[in-house]
Amino acid sequence: MQIIIADKAGYCFGIENAMKMVEDTLANHQNQSIYTLGDISHNRQEMDRLIGRGVVKAETIDEIDHGCVIIRSHGVGKDVIEAAEAKGLEIVNATCPFVRAMQKKVEDYYKKGYQIVIVGNQEHPEVVGATGWCNNEAIVINDIKSVENLKKYDKICVVAQTTIIEANFNKITEALKSKADEIVIFNTICSATAERQAAAAETAKVVEYMIVIGGYHSSNTQKLLDICKTYCKNTCHIETAGELDPNEIKKYQTIGITAGASTPDWIVKEVTESMEENKLEQEQTQEVVQETEAAKAQTANEIADANFD
Ligand code: F3S
Repeated sequence: MQIIIADKAGYCFGIENAMKMVEDTLANHQNQSIYTLGDISHNRQEMDRLIGRGVVKAETIDEIDHGCVIIRSHGVGKDVIEAAEAKGLEIVNATCPFVRAMQKKVEDYYKKGYQIVIVGNQEHPEVVGATGWCNNEAIVINDIKSVENLKKYDKICVVAQTTIIEANFNKITEALKSKADEIVIFNTICSATAERQAAAAETAKVVEYMIVIGGYHSSNTQKLLDICKTYCKNTCHIETAGELDPNEIKKYQTIGITAGASTPDWIVKEVTESMEENKLEQEQTQEVVQETEAAKAQTANEIADANFD
């Protein structure tokens, strides 16, 4: 059995960076309250692990009145940072640097008098956070139809939710050009998602069975699953190694693995180790079968020789 792990499987740079900051905070803040605003990782097992180590999940700053608050990689609005500062909380800002760069464009161009347009999903935490850097006055659009309904502006500044599809962004920005006398466009899309998806597709094309690891509620994992299913009809989705089906695995010679952006390395490792164990077991079974066959053949020869004598 050959196991192929797709390139870029698991954490992207931003989430890896945020998780490292959580680990550092845990190490440096013993006996202090540590909060995360929302899920620092969209992975149930990882959140359970952190909560088990004393991290408390809060939904808003209102729920926190002392200690340290960790801002997740999606970032938050300026108002949230200010509210945390006003309460005297220690802030560990784990906003992904790519998201922070997008927030900066929003803030700077809002101050210069531009109407901010964010191409993305209105409910996505990253977009909610970004609108908080222009006094919640951004227009958020996700399709061409919404562009048609816009009035004309003097100056528009367009940015993208970091995880959206580039072709969609290009179409929307093209249409937006007729909606302002002046338009500045910043393609703030991060390549990590597209790279992970491309690598998963390449792997799915060459294997008989594909395993996608990630939270059942993680949208980027769901997208990976759809892509892998397109290229490999035997694709399954699991959250943990315990969900692997050994009987199914035994049927295939080449198996691929990929993982969503919020899947921690330790879960990917557990799955690959479990696969390696399966592989070893399979090889040992094959050896035993071969030895049994050889022993049978030898016995048959011995019987034949004995009869001949
Ligand atoms: Fe950052 Fe890109 Fe990941 S924006 S959080 S590195 S998907």
